[in-house]
Amino acid sequence: MVQPLGHHRPQWKTHIGFLLAAVGSAIGLGNIWRFPYLCYKNGGGAFLIPYFIALFVVGIPLMILEVGLGHKMRGSSPASFASISKKWEWLGWWQVIFVMFGIVLYYSVVISWCVNFFFYAFKLGWTQDPNAFFFQKFLMVSKGPFDLGDLRTPIVFSLLIVWFLNWLIVFSGVQKGLERANKIFMPLLLLLTAFIVFWSVRLPGAKSGLLVYLKPDFSRLSDIRVWMDAFSQIFFTLSLGFGIMITYASYLPHKSQIVRDSFIISVTNCLFSIFAGFGVFSVLGYMAQTTSKEFGDVVTQSIGLAFVAYPKAISTLPGFSALFGVIFFAILVIAGLSSAISILEAFTSALVDKFHYRRKIVVSVLSLCGFLGGIIFATQAGLYWLDIVDHFLTQYGLVIVAIFECIVVGWIFKATRMRAHIAHFSVWHLKRWWDVAIKVVTPLILGALLFSSFIDEIAKPYGDYSRLALILIGRDWLIYTLFLAIFVAYHSWKIEPSERMLKHPEA
Ligand code: TRP
Repeated sequence: MVQPLGHHRPQWKTHIGFLLAAVGSAIGLGNIWRFPYLCYKNGGGAFLIPYFIALFVVGIPLMILEVGLGHKMRGSSPASFASISKKWEWLGWWQVIFVMFGIVLYYSVVISWCVNFFFYAFKLGWTQDPNAFFFQKFLMVSKGPFDLGDLRTPIVFSLLIVWFLNWLIVFSGVQKGLERANKIFMPLLLLLTAFIVFWSVRLPGAKSGLLVYLKPDFSRLSDIRVWMDAFSQIFFTLSLGFGIMITYASYLPHKSQIVRDSFIISVTNCLFSIFAGFGVFSVLGYMAQTTSKEFGDVVTQSIGLAFVAYPKAISTLPGFSALFGVIFFAILVIAGLSSAISILEAFTSALVDKFHYRRKIVVSVLSLCGFLGGIIFATQAGLYWLDIVDHFLTQYGLVIVAIFECIVVGWIFKATRMRAHIAHFSVWHLKRWWDVAIKVVTPLILGALLFSSFIDEIAKPYGDYSRLALILIGRDWLIYTLFLAIFVAYHSWKIEPSERMLKHPEA
């Protein structure tokens, strides 16, 4: 099928280029610090059971849906939903808007902390007390979310670097920017991670750490929260509900292996998490041994793990400890950047599809907005804002969007029709189970997840924040982005979105 007139869509140069970019988007900060922590908290090795169930029941079916949708409609997420029905265009806008003007704003700030720590690592600059260093000297955390305090100049400075890199990569285009960057980033990431993991597992005490990581405590599986953690982690880690995979798949050539690629992307991402966990836990085991502390005392929550516990451990390492630190933070920066660029691309593609703006101008304006928008998270109240916005956008935003994705594709476009498209060139056949997953199982599970988060939220407001802060910063972030999405969706298209749809003569 030839491209419709007037529609020139970029394409991946190579198939591996697409896979690396998709894996690059999936592997991010979440794999390195969130996954190991969740394992530890939720029954060690036993957590792998709900995690893999979530991967196969929700993760892979949704990945196939997003990749299939982008491939079929040859468009960014809003264009793809608009091709199904104009009534659903807002859904595509909403996801890319709240990720671009929400998740990626604070995500880039966390990458910029990593940039700072990368430089501190050369001289182990986090002092003898990394806890006080991180919260009091580096972030200078204020008293509460409404006490903004001053801008943290070191963070603003590195945020500028992060957005410059985001801009540079996406500005250079799909082949010369994203594809090329990921072809360098991904092998490098694997190499550096392997280096750290092999270094760590040979440290004294590493075994005890690994035992905690992998020893299954099956009794934890009766706790519903363990299951909720597994499902929401699968979502975030696979970049599902972000609109990213839809966009990336729209740059695939006509003959593509949608089912096989979706498996490869999802499974590689999860194996990477498990692999990185070996490094994290070995180091914590080593630290527990050298400081003769209980293991539980050295493990901390996500941010604490990367910026407090880890620096503490690095300082006590025998041998080239600075090198270890430098590599560890380099890994975080690379993993983070390859995820951040994916949403910048998804949003750029959405604007170009709809308004036919010049791509380079869109990327430049968006990068500037991203930098400016991130500044709120670089104030002394940044940590609170980050925590609240993250909670609402990932626990509610992504899940709501995914439920709608299932309804729109499963029931309105029809799952069987999408499956027929996917099957067209596939060597791996997709059976009827997928229709059932997309139409019934996935939305029901996600609905239950949403419902229980909501009940929890009402019973006990998140964190120790005031309700006012949660409403103004968290909930309203979702509501305003929704209004913006509806507003943008209301404008008319230069070229009808359905024009770009791939049609098979015999289908
Ligand atoms: N999957 C990433 C992780 O595990 C998160 C992520 C993917 C992301 N794409 C993104 C975050 C775009 C911000 C913007 O960390």
